[in-house]
Amino acid sequence: MQHSGLRLGFLTGGGTNDEEDAALTFARRIVDDAETVPLRDVASGAVDLRRFDALWWHAHAPVSDPATVASCADPVRSFVSDGGGLWCSSRALAQVAALGIDPVPPDATGTEAVPEAVGPLWKAVYADHPAVDGLAGLRHHIRPAGSEGPYARYEDVLPERADVLAATYRGIEDVPTEPIVLQWRIGSGTVLGVGVGMEFAQHDDPATETTRERFASNVLRWLAGAADHETALATGRPKTGAELARYRDAFADDPNRPRSHPTPPVNWLNDPNGLIHHDGTYHLFYQYNPGGPYHHAVHWGHAVSEDLVHWSDRSVAMTPDPAGPDRDGCWSGCAVAVDGDVYALYTGGRDGWQRPCLARATDDELTTFEPAGANPVIDAPPAELDLLSTPGEPAHFRDHCLVREGGRWHHLIGAGLQDLGGAVVSYTGTDLTEWTYEGPTLVTDDVESGVVWECPELLGFPDGDLLHVSDYSHVRYFIGEFDADESRFVPETHGTLDPGAFYAPQSLSTPDGREVMFGWLREERSVSRQWDAGWAGAMSLPRVIDVVDGELRQRPAREVDRLRRERLLEDTVSLDDEAERLDVDGTGLECRLRVDPSDAGEVGLVLRASPDGTECTTVRIRRDAVVVDRSQSSLEPTAATDDVVVDVADLDPPFDVRVFLDGSVLELFVADRRALSTRIYPTRSDATGVALYAGQGGATIDLDVRRLGSAWPAARDDGGEAMTAGR
Ligand code: FRU
Repeated sequence: MQHSGLRLGFLTGGGTNDEEDAALTFARRIVDDAETVPLRDVASGAVDLRRFDALWWHAHAPVSDPATVASCADPVRSFVSDGGGLWCSSRALAQVAALGIDPVPPDATGTEAVPEAVGPLWKAVYADHPAVDGLAGLRHHIRPAGSEGPYARYEDVLPERADVLAATYRGIEDVPTEPIVLQWRIGSGTVLGVGVGMEFAQHDDPATETTRERFASNVLRWLAGAADHETALATGRPKTGAELARYRDAFADDPNRPRSHPTPPVNWLNDPNGLIHHDGTYHLFYQYNPGGPYHHAVHWGHAVSEDLVHWSDRSVAMTPDPAGPDRDGCWSGCAVAVDGDVYALYTGGRDGWQRPCLARATDDELTTFEPAGANPVIDAPPAELDLLSTPGEPAHFRDHCLVREGGRWHHLIGAGLQDLGGAVVSYTGTDLTEWTYEGPTLVTDDVESGVVWECPELLGFPDGDLLHVSDYSHVRYFIGEFDADESRFVPETHGTLDPGAFYAPQSLSTPDGREVMFGWLREERSVSRQWDAGWAGAMSLPRVIDVVDGELRQRPAREVDRLRRERLLEDTVSLDDEAERLDVDGTGLECRLRVDPSDAGEVGLVLRASPDGTECTTVRIRRDAVVVDRSQSSLEPTAATDDVVVDVADLDPPFDVRVFLDGSVLELFVADRRALSTRIYPTRSDATGVALYAGQGGATIDLDVRRLGSAWPAARDDGGEAMTAGR
């Protein structure tokens, strides 16, 4: 098992304890030269670290001599910069700030009972990482149940410079909010942190022991042996847009990953934020968790476009400040330009408190936002509001919309009121820092108002004003009039903007005067399946929002046509109580149908159908409604199966229906007026077929099917063709 020539320095805080002795004994089985190196000798310069290929600090006991650790920072950092490997395990991970490896240390450290076996919940994008070579799957127990053990984890905060390789797998539960394996790149060397208290002295669970030994020997060999520490992707926290874009290729073979819709390069995305057309470029910021594909510690991710449909990744634009009111997350907000500067007004999250914060972009490319003065700009919610308090969130008061009217800013905030449910409240001001509370802008008994309204947005149209909010399940809209003098919205009609997975949308004004909206298309499968995918969340296609004759209208922005690739089929198909499989397939398609379902009762478009019929999704076009039937969409038990229904009873047939199928996204528009977006997760690689049917009475269907191209330059632009080739 030994590898000749690998020299390991085993760092110790002084004399070793049993556990450290056991770890050293283990290391000696893996490398042929492992030598104890007291930290005080590193600090004093008595030992020249260059004689080692790697260092391992397996601190089992609390670190009692911080001054010595701090004095080790320079020699350890230069050892790593020159290409050395450093492994910090157990409590040593808590010392990364003291060692100058990362300004943000783990925020949760200590000793805990371990009632169930525990270990890394490995990230899918790093499945080829050398540390997990030979280990199957993403879930690994490396510490047995039934003991007390030290730990060091990033829970509320993330390291600034490391990438998360793994969170926690405890018993049979995924705990994505507890990152424990981190990787830093310093110069040409690597630091790996493992904050689960592995114990080499303990031998009572053969399965866990085998996994731990495999994992630990992989790490030692990799850190000590490789001339450089290149891995498939991980080099530390990816920073530039180009570094982030590299991750897109990792998902090239995932048939459920959308390609024509905006997605995070990797990890998690939720709400669109700060949408703005600035200096000739469209900016899409979004709630982004760099830690993994789950909602936590949100930053503002950033993508830019010249045409609303082709996007490029940019570096993360806003990062929580461990010392600021946004320590736990830079939550949703908006952006406005004032005198050439772009400001973001967003919610800072800290300890469950939600406070309005203002930041200014440091350049015209909106690369980074920095605090624009003292934050928060509103210290506390108005005392007169009886805000809903729930465990972990003492006052629901968040998300921001700015509207300029009557020479002042109107600042709308979403809220939950203790007895009244969801509400929008507002402030006014003349600059963006001083705010006067004006009272509730919309509280209503007319509709079931849910418990909290998030992400309010007010849009003005010649035919009426539109206020929409997200109520935890859907986007509710109200059409009426905003009285700017009173800061009140007087609703006349209301409805659901999109009955599907569309949530927390935001809009921007185009230079030609359109209001273009993007919504977050939520995942509708379990958190564990999202973890396995390695990415979560997508944005809708850009849709133009209008109010005409008191009615909300939604249609795809005309720029969406630029995503069209080759035409696969153009035909007029007559069917009577029969189905026809079409000679097209794929996972990225735009299907345009013109059809009157009145005689047939129902005309159906079947997508992502497997040849044996075990998986398929059916768009049922009826006279009064268009229904997406997901009852057979997926064999995966956690995928949502309920119907999604959009009402079209008031529209006149024939209906023009545009269906955008993009991996797991199905987004459709009826008559350029109604929209529905939903998610489907077929498991079979042959679930790519397309069919049409019509009920008794028959229908003639004009059909036009195109392949959809990619929104991203780096992604494979074949609309899923490669996956279906050679079947
Ligand atoms: C809506 C939301 C917002 C919040 C953000 C946090 O999805 O909950 O209310 O600001 O997401 O990510």
